[in-house]
Order: sequence, then C-alpha cells, then structure tokens
Amino acid sequence: MTAASTPRPHQSSPGKPLAGNLAVPGDKSISHRALIFGALAVGETEVTGLLEGEDVLRTAAAMRAMGAEVERLGEGHWKVRGVGVGGFAEPADVLDMGNAGTGARLVMGLVASHPFTAVFTGDASLRRRPMGRVVEPLSRIGAAFHGRQGGRLPMAVVGSAHPLPIEYELPVASAQVKSAILLAGLNAPGITRVIEREATRDHTENLLRHFGAEVMVESTKQGGRIISLVGQPELKPSRIDVPGDPSSAAFPLVAALIVPGAEVTVTGVGINPLRIGLIDSLREMGGDISYGNIRDQGGEQVADITARHSRLKGITVPPERAPSMIDEYPILFVAAACAAGETVVRGAKELRVKESDRLAAMARALAANGVALEELEDGLILRGNGKPPKGGAAVATELDHRIAMSALVLGLAAEQGVSVDDVGMIDTSFPGFVGLMRGLGADIAPV
Ligand code: S3P
Repeated sequence: MTAASTPRPHQSSPGKPLAGNLAVPGDKSISHRALIFGALAVGETEVTGLLEGEDVLRTAAAMRAMGAEVERLGEGHWKVRGVGVGGFAEPADVLDMGNAGTGARLVMGLVASHPFTAVFTGDASLRRRPMGRVVEPLSRIGAAFHGRQGGRLPMAVVGSAHPLPIEYELPVASAQVKSAILLAGLNAPGITRVIEREATRDHTENLLRHFGAEVMVESTKQGGRIISLVGQPELKPSRIDVPGDPSSAAFPLVAALIVPGAEVTVTGVGINPLRIGLIDSLREMGGDISYGNIRDQGGEQVADITARHSRLKGITVPPERAPSMIDEYPILFVAAACAAGETVVRGAKELRVKESDRLAAMARALAANGVALEELEDGLILRGNGKPPKGGAAVATELDHRIAMSALVLGLAAEQGVSVDDVGMIDTSFPGFVGLMRGLGADIAPV
C-alpha cells in the first residue's frame, strides 16, 4: 500500500464505550534505526517487534540497495547481515523513501560519509519537506548536495571520500538531524560532536552504545545535551526487541479518555522519558492514565498503559515539552477539543514541516467539526466546553497518517462523527489501526 493508491475514505462515529487490551506495532523511530544499525554492524542482527509500516520498509529497501542483506523471517521478525561501518556500496537506483522524513534524513547521513552518490526521492509530502537542515551540517562533513529549490527532494547526495568529524550545534530541536550527523560521523576519523539545546529522543545514542560504539552524553544545565561519538568503530551485531510505539499508543489512549465509559490498556509501550510528553500533558489535563508492569526491554523501558474516560480540563502545555511530544500534538488537540476551558500550545512551529503542516491541517479539521480555536504561528489555542464537539465534517488528511488517526479518534466522541478522505497512509506508521480500534468496539467504517 502506498499513499498514492486509490483513496479509502472512512467515517468514525460514537457508539459503545471502548474496552479491552491491545498491543500497538513497534516503535517507528527504533525500527528505522534497528535496520540501519544492523546494516552497519559486521555480522547478523536479529530484530523482533519491527514495525512493518511502509516508512520502515523503505529503509529496509535502502539498506538492501546499499549492500546489506535484509530478510523477513516472520511477523515483525527480521534478520540483517551488515556490511560494517564504511562498507556501504553505491545504490544502483534512486532511493525512494516514500513518506518517511526519518528514513530519508538518516540514510542521507549515511551516504554523506561514503565515497559514492545516491539520489533520494519520496512521495508528494516528503518532496515538500525541507532537507536544508541536514544538508547544512552534512556539507561541513564534506558531502555535496544537488536538490530542488529550498533544499527539497529529489536530491543527489555526493558522499565524501574523506569525511571530516564535525562539532555542530543544532539550530532546531531535531532527533533526525542529530542522528543524520552521528550516522555520518560513524565513518569519519576522530570525534563527531552534536550539541542540542533541548534534549530530543535518544534512540540513536542508545543503539550506538548497544552496538558497541563509544559515545559520551553530557547533560547541560539548560536541559540540553552534548553527544560525542568516536568515529570508525567496529559495530558488533546485536539483538533488538522493538517496544510498542508510544506515538501509536497515543491514539487508543486518547480515544479512551474522551469516550464515555471507556477503559483501554495498551501493552508493551515504550516509555522513554524523551517520548512521553503527551502522557504528562494528558495527566495535567486530568486524564486517568496509569502504568503497569514496567520492565526493561533491550535498553528501553516499557509499560502497559491504561487510560479511562476522564473529565479533561484545558492546560498550557510548556513549550519546552515540545521535543518529547512532537508527533503527539495532533491527538493532544483532539483531547483539548473535548476538555473544559482553554488549552494553549506554543513553541510547536516544527509542526508546520511534518508530513503536513499539522498546525494548519488540525486547525482546519477541528474548526470544521465545531471546535473553537485560534491558530498561531507556533501553536494553537483551543477552547473546549467540557464535552466533545459536534463533528459531522469531512477532514482532508493531506497524506498525513497522524491527521487521519486524530480525526478518526475525534469522531468516536463527536456527536455526528467525523469522516476522513483516506486511511491508506495510516499504514506508514500504524498498520492495522482501523482493525485494532474496531476490536476495542470503535465504530469506524468505510464510506
Ligand atoms: C523522529 C524525530 C522527529 C519525529 C519523527 C521521528 C526520529 O522528527 O517527528 O516522527 O525518529 O528521529 P524531527 O527530528 O524532525 O523533530
């Protein structure tokens, strides 16, 4: 299934209270990285719980195109035979990264420090997204880039035969940019250093360590981090058991909070502190959310998370929380639309350069469904009246999986339901979403 296939409009409607347990697919960020690190190690890495969404499959194809052996053994169970740091080969064809910003930017980082050229492209959404943020630091490493205006794909990346280790302070809080630099730095001699003013998800650093690289992380007093990587390590193959994606769990959890009488448990969800800003925000709103069975799974903490229907109230979301809930704002807006009072979100300008302009897309979607709101340059102010909005309008999903899922969740509570123009692109991150939600009792059907 690709985002370009025939649109499949769906409608969600209020009905039974949602109830039950479910497991969501593997973490998207960790899945991309599991395949990449497997491809960089010398020997065979086994991955279980891999997200088999379209985005991750594109990364698997890119790793194959650059010489790694990537094999699917069973559901979520994959084997990667890596080529070693510096061992990638020139891909014979264009690398089509589909809808995936993470896949595109991380693989561009890999190519930047190899002596060959690779051409990157993607779907209409990815071709609109800015790549300048990786082009700038990767140019300093020695790579050259030939893309469309505004640093957009399609783009040829001419990797460097003599990559330089760099020290770089991130101008935007972005785990993708940080990771692209660290992955490029793996094949540069000496120490590559990335300075982030605000800490972003640290899966790359964790996996670097897990695969035997030397990486130092210092925390700054201002909440930032300095990550130093010693280049040209020999990475050892490893086992990775990918936790459930907290960004996917967010949808059934918020659905449970806003549907009267609901109680839902999502099992085996990653609760890395740099990923759970949404949970903190929902709890501040009065959401009844609890963790059970907290355990360690391959270096990441996981838990079973239970959410129950709650009377939510509006809050001001601290802007500094943005990196830890960056993908969860669309579904937070849905919770805010059902809460009593004002919810203020600022410092979230990055949402304008995701799979869609998520501030504009959600403002349009919610306003059309009866939510009072104001769109700001870097956020939204939503005014809820303590009950779900009227609904009844169709939402344009703009090739954005999280807009589609957020709208469908809203429709489970909104009086007249909500429809979306397509559910196809949900497969990029959460294959099986509609079926799993139906399993909880949700009324979601094709129209
Ligand atoms: C991701 C980082 C975030 C996030 C994306 C996944 C990653 O993007 O929105 O879905 O895996 O590194 P940015 O780095 O652009 O903030």
